[in-house]
Amino acid sequence: MLRKQMYPESARPMTFDASEAPELRTAHVIVVANEKGGSGKSTMSIHLAVALLKAGYRVATIDLDVRQRTLTRFFENRESWARTAPWAVELPRHFAPDRAETASVQDNESADFAVFAEAIGEVEHEYEFVVIDTPASDSYLMRLAHSLADTLISPMNDSFIDMDVLSRVHHDRVKRGMVAQYAEIVIEARRKRRLVDNGLIDWVLVRNRIASLQSNNARQVDHALRKLAVELQFRVAEGLHDRVIFRELFPLGLTALDALETANHTLTPSQLSARREIETLVSDLRLPSRVEGGDYLESRHIWFEALSSYYRELTAKKAD
Ligand SMILES: Nc1ncnc2c1ncn2[C@@H]1O[C@H](COP(=O)(O)OP(=O)(O)OP(=O)(O)O)[C@@H](O)[C@H]1O
Ligand SMILES: [Mg+2]
Repeated sequence: MLRKQMYPESARPMTFDASEAPELRTAHVIVVANEKGGSGKSTMSIHLAVALLKAGYRVATIDLDVRQRTLTRFFENRESWARTAPWAVELPRHFAPDRAETASVQDNESADFAVFAEAIGEVEHEYEFVVIDTPASDSYLMRLAHSLADTLISPMNDSFIDMDVLSRVHHDRVKRGMVAQYAEIVIEARRKRRLVDNGLIDWVLVRNRIASLQSNNARQVDHALRKLAVELQFRVAEGLHDRVIFRELFPLGLTALDALETANHTLTPSQLSARREIETLVSDLRLPSRVEGGDYLESRHIWFEALSSYYRELTAKKAD
């Protein structure tokens, strides 16, 4: 079941110019994913969504992590804060779809697809960006989100353990460098998209929790990552340092980007740097500004139609 829209229309950012031909505008889908748990997917989804809202875009968010619901919890906290805050607290239109749990895998997939497609269908004309947070575990919805991404962001820590889900880090030369399970998911998503609508997925790896003192190990990881980028066709963005501000405001539903200074809170140099890091990240992503035209919409529809007809055929076969 799709949960109802959590926020009122009035919560939309005021800077949006409603006169810009809404029928031509189509949402750019940003999926934040990595099979490595705790790499910073939810933290990045939160900061990215808030940054885009603050830039005046209309943003929808989808939380596909049905177990943890971190993104949903954050926006629930933010919504309560918005009611009393002395300054503008922007909110996205948020969806937290539940996963179908019947005994049949096919029925579950078909139901999950329908709910997901409905959420996208509701926002694709009126919102400029959809930010999707995903779970670390492999699932149908997680793969579906990948195949829908216009921009795919994978946060990762400066560690060979994090790199091991992309390419095998192994002492044995024969096994070393083999494409690993998460990279395979992305390759498969890209392959399907190419077959169906010739769509491209811009895959951006974002280093997260970078230590302030660069270690020898971090340099080695960075070097290996840049080599791998050529092979697996991703870009590497500068990313975020490990900073308390990126985690301490979660219970309030706030981020380093919010107007903390107006609440008599003097910003520390680290907090100012955190803001700059988010701004740099958004600019490194090279997202389309004020998307116009039907490119994304068209490719999404072709892709959804291919999947819908697949499920229709399955259902018809079952009924025979
Ligand atoms: N740049 C950062 N600076 C400081 N703390 C961070 C940073 N990024 C993430 N964290 C913290 O690291 C932990 C994991 O982050 P997060 O929950 O965003 O990861 P995740 O990939 O969504 O995890 P999961 O796979 O469990 O969904 C959290 O405690 C978060 O507050
Ligand atoms: Mg998470």
